Amino acid sequence: DMGGHDTYMHKEICEQPDAVDRVLRGRIDDRFSTVHLGGLNLDAREARSIRRVKILGCGTSYHAGLIGAGLIESLARIPADAEPASEFRYRNPVVDPDTLYVAVSQSGETYDVLAAVQELKRKGARVLGVVNVVGSAIAREADGGTYVHAGPEVCVVSTKCFTNTVVAFALLALHLGRIRDLSVSDGKRIIEGLRRLPAQISEILTMEDEIKKLAKEYADAKSMMFIGRVRGYPVALEASLKLKEISYIHAEAYPASELKHGPLALIEPALPTVAIVPDDDLLEKNRAALEEIKARSGRILAVAHQEQEKADHTIVVPKNEDELDAILMGIPLQLLAYHTALELGRDIDKPRNLAKSVTVE
Ligand code: M6R
Repeated sequence: DMGGHDTYMHKEICEQPDAVDRVLRGRIDDRFSTVHLGGLNLDAREARSIRRVKILGCGTSYHAGLIGAGLIESLARIPADAEPASEFRYRNPVVDPDTLYVAVSQSGETYDVLAAVQELKRKGARVLGVVNVVGSAIAREADGGTYVHAGPEVCVVSTKCFTNTVVAFALLALHLGRIRDLSVSDGKRIIEGLRRLPAQISEILTMEDEIKKLAKEYADAKSMMFIGRVRGYPVALEASLKLKEISYIHAEAYPASELKHGPLALIEPALPTVAIVPDDDLLEKNRAALEEIKARSGRILAVAHQEQEKADHTIVVPKNEDELDAILMGIPLQLLAYHTALELGRDIDKPRNLAKSVTVE
């Protein structure tokens, strides 16, 4: 049942305020400015002994994991990174007992992720799952973890699950941070930021008409560039994947800082750039990248917290805490991909060559 929407993708994009509300519900502990995640099976002593976090997932879940790694590093101060599960399991990785492994999967059935979990467990590692589908194979195989509570996602491309997975990582990062060295006041600041998310997502969704117009403007592009820096880079990766999957427009994502090391050669009016430009300590650096692109006559669509002078268009989104901005900045780009695909007459819920869950190698 699409509940009045033309596609499941549109329905699922619009469900995000409620979905985020669900992943937060019942987990926040205001008294200690922390969160409780029931099924982690990780006591305080164990949480304090973690030396590294390695996050594994595929596709959109891998991108959510990249943002998750950044959240864990910044809030819990534990070195963390994410890697495609498919790559990890074929490179005979060194499995370290002080590393916490986290497997991310919407369906909980992705074979590459499941196989990585099984290999890790065979080697005695501790593996948590960040999964949407309750009782799925990865959820059962993991030593513990948390559900992302996005509700059923039908569209082949993931939207609300991505957002909820990132929020679940923010909760995990806050939980680990408060056991380790995150202050009460920072804990409180992040909790307040998390609580603002549903209303801010609703606010972004009211900008759909404006985003639809922008989609019409850029739908003729043969290729698009997505750039971001540090927290913004995984947002660029995910937005570029979304555009590819449903519009079939070729897209690339690069860290803005890498432009001058090669991809700047591609910039010309026919290759528009979507730039993630949050109002944080990297704002001036990001603005410099916009200038470099403009100097080569590149068209720019910015997602930012204030109008960007060098951009041809800016989608202005509400500001949250610096650590949480990435969650909001991806949402207008889901709508951009959606309306671009609609404009091009694509089969949005069932893009060619793709399946909802990839249960084979
Ligand atoms: O169910 P999973 O999260 O494990 O799926 C992983 C990927 O196959 C999935 O995210 C894929 O990239 C989607 N088509 C994204 O829109």
